[in-house]
Amino acid sequence: MVCIRKATVDDLLAMQACNLFCLPENYQMKYYFYHILSWPQLLYVAEDYNGHIVGYVLAKMEEESNECHGHITSLAVLRTHRKLGLATKLMSAAQSAMEQVFGAEYVSLHVRKSNRAAFNLYTETLGYKIHDVEAKYYADGEDAYDMRKQLKESRVIIMGNISITNTNTTTITTIIIISMVVGVVQAR
Ligand SMILES: CC(C)(COP(=O)(O)OP(=O)(O)OC[C@H]1O[C@@H](n2cnc3c(N)ncnc32)[C@H](O)[C@@H]1OP(=O)(O)O)[C@@H](O)C(=O)NCCC(=O)NCCS
Repeated sequence: MVCIRKATVDDLLAMQACNLFCLPENYQMKYYFYHILSWPQLLYVAEDYNGHIVGYVLAKMEEESNECHGHITSLAVLRTHRKLGLATKLMSAAQSAMEQVFGAEYVSLHVRKSNRAAFNLYTETLGYKIHDVEAKYYADGEDAYDMRKQLKESRVIIMGNISITNTNTTTITTIIIISMVVGVVQAR
């Protein structure tokens, strides 16, 4: 039995160890602290019944951008626990928090062109799309797919012959009032 839960400061060393086991992109402990102190809602771990951390997602909100969006910094699951749906659950938890806590419009990430497992996870299971290709993004010269997933879908509301997109409640209320007034005028 493995549970997905929010990470605490006590998990950071185990997350770093998991990262060292699974990926060539490694980070100093201060980078983990930067994440958890800035966006504590966006770090999740997968913990087995012995209390061992077997997977994690490290995520953040993008600060150098006009659009409010989240970014997946790192994701990994130990080999012993792969293909059990853990990465899917970790990603879903981080994405939901980005949307609900920070109002993120979309989430971005980078993945190596050769990383088929992660690419399949992102495209087939989680619905990410290729936004761009960044040549020689990684230290060893490999290209990265810059991928994005829309979190807030553009909604279309059709009332009579009026259609609007990205509607908020104020707009809906205004349109209902206008429709009622028009209805009263026409009825006279
Ligand atoms: C990529 C990784 C995080 C996937 O973790 P996981 O917990 O095994 O993933 P899930 O069980 O949630 O898999 C969901 C989907 O991902 C895809 N997937 C996962 N592993 C796969 C593999 N070895 N080959 C092909 N597709 C794979 C499948 O589409 C899978 O859906 P399915 O089970 O219905 O076939 C894991 O393999 C890993 O830690 N790899 C090393 C680190 C890494 O590459 N991190 C991502 C960096 S961008």
